[in-house]
Amino acid sequence: MSNVLTGIKPTGLPHIGNYLGAIKPAIDLSKNGSVADEFFYFIADYHSLTGIKSRDTFQEVVYQVAATWLACGLDPKRVVFYKQSDIPEIFELAWILSCHIPKGDLNRAHAYKAAVTENSEKGKDLDSGINMGLYSYPVLMAADILLFDTNIVPVGQDQVQHVEITRSIAQRINQSYGDILVLPQEMIRKEAGAVVGLDGRKMSKSYNNSIPLFESEKGLKKLVNRITTDSTPPEAPKNPDSSLLYSYYSLFATPPDLACFRDQLLKGISWGEAKAQLFELINGELKIYRDNYSKIIADKSFIDSCLRDGALKAREIADKRLKKIRAAIIGG
Ligand code: TRP
Repeated sequence: MSNVLTGIKPTGLPHIGNYLGAIKPAIDLSKNGSVADEFFYFIADYHSLTGIKSRDTFQEVVYQVAATWLACGLDPKRVVFYKQSDIPEIFELAWILSCHIPKGDLNRAHAYKAAVTENSEKGKDLDSGINMGLYSYPVLMAADILLFDTNIVPVGQDQVQHVEITRSIAQRINQSYGDILVLPQEMIRKEAGAVVGLDGRKMSKSYNNSIPLFESEKGLKKLVNRITTDSTPPEAPKNPDSSLLYSYYSLFATPPDLACFRDQLLKGISWGEAKAQLFELINGELKIYRDNYSKIIADKSFIDSCLRDGALKAREIADKRLKKIRAAIIGG
């Protein structure tokens, strides 16, 4: 019996880097029955509360992330899909765990350390603007993971330290109370950083160089036309390996289609024609997700009912697990 679990922190609408780097690989993984017996993909909404301080924004981003995953093919029958804030057992476990982790370990957690460093560079009080939620973020994440006997945690490189902290808490508790917690292992995803922006820099909302996953057809066409190309004349051969357009094509194409595109560039097609082909390829893959998304986001009661069903399944497991952990640690 093995479990895969990952948390998705709501941060607004995704771009194609998020899709290729996180959403698609996680959904593909959940369709592969030989990887694990159970998949738990949940919305880490209380983790967002460390930063978001508006109820409307909070609800909006939670619905956006839920609709995104459902639109991209997450199957709630295969995956236990729930919202963290619906599972109170996680928060009880978080307290138990926090009593077993040295404060010094959290001082070294990278998000907190980065915030302290920034304050120090600005000559501010070291803890200025840092809430306890940000500080104990890794403990809540450890509770998310340990409550469900997780074996494998698919994450990006930036979350590996949190999984290490989780293992270290679990080891400490197992040493004191016997083997009650499963030690999780991270499964590192290739980063979305591999997807560069339209101008060749890292794809990021703040650089205004990203392709939103659910961009309209018209908008997508415009964005593809913005991809930086060189001034090689239309019929001249183009070098695929130095072409941003080709690297985008490679993210979506099957190997035979890619080989054909490469051939055309080498023989010489205009950048305009190459862009038209790239648009068709990307649009062909994303169209269905875009249509799904607009239907799902307009139907909040459908999203609510998916999450309610998921919470029921998750709580049944969480309740049993927490009872065992409580029994081992406080005796009842
Ligand atoms: N911290 C993760 C992120 O920002 C989200 C997350 C919360 C998570 N709990 C988790 C990921 C448990 C994996 C397992 O991306």
